Amino acid sequence: MKNFVWKILVCSLVMVAGVDTYAQNAEVAMNNNKNILIAYYSYSGNTKTVAEAIQKEVGGDLFEIKTEGEYPGEYRQMTLQAQKEIRENYRPKLTTLVNDMAKYDIVFLGSPNWWGTITPQVSSFLQTYDLNGKKVFPFITHGGGGKQNTVADMKAQCVGCVFEETKAWSGYGDTVQGIGEWIKTLSID
Ligand SMILES: Cc1cc2nc3c(=O)[nH]c(=O)nc-3n(C[C@H](O)[C@H](O)[C@H](O)COP(=O)(O)O)c2cc1C
Repeated sequence: MKNFVWKILVCSLVMVAGVDTYAQNAEVAMNNNKNILIAYYSYSGNTKTVAEAIQKEVGGDLFEIKTEGEYPGEYRQMTLQAQKEIRENYRPKLTTLVNDMAKYDIVFLGSPNWWGTITPQVSSFLQTYDLNGKKVFPFITHGGGGKQNTVADMKAQCVGCVFEETKAWSGYGDTVQGIGEWIKTLSID
């Protein structure tokens, strides 16, 4: 009988210790769980597609950068207006806002390549928010020119952020190719 009581006692102690260890592990896992924001501007949908694919891989909150102002429907006119805006360092006012930017540790920031650089909308985002100390992973889509100055210009405007170089996706058909592999190469924790 004494033996039986001891067995019960020892089993209970082991169970309590086990639960405690489990609780500690759960806490560690929660601390490692970084808050991720995936912010992007997309005029014709390619960068949005990449943003959504990134979210599928890493979770986090999607945020579409929208601003005041419109572009002409005719493509050539639209590109000329965009070129003028870029030349004049135009910074349109944001019409969508991030709820509590301070809570994010990591920001994936997406822009199409416009005339070799990031769009005015993405520049407005960088001007509006303090990303100091946050890890920023840029992602770019393009129409054949690759990154050109996009990533370098984004970095120059991302004051104080911990910036990582990255790859670009072509807007023609391969926008979500290789995203899983790319994510594996990033130091997200
Ligand atoms: C105004 C404008 C300028 C562009 N300039 C370039 C460029 O300089 N180099 C390039 O490779 N693609 C250029 N493109 C193509 C876009 O980068 C490409 O289609 C991109 O994937 C569009 O992203 P979105 O669909 O998210 O708007 C330009 C497109 C527009 C509308």
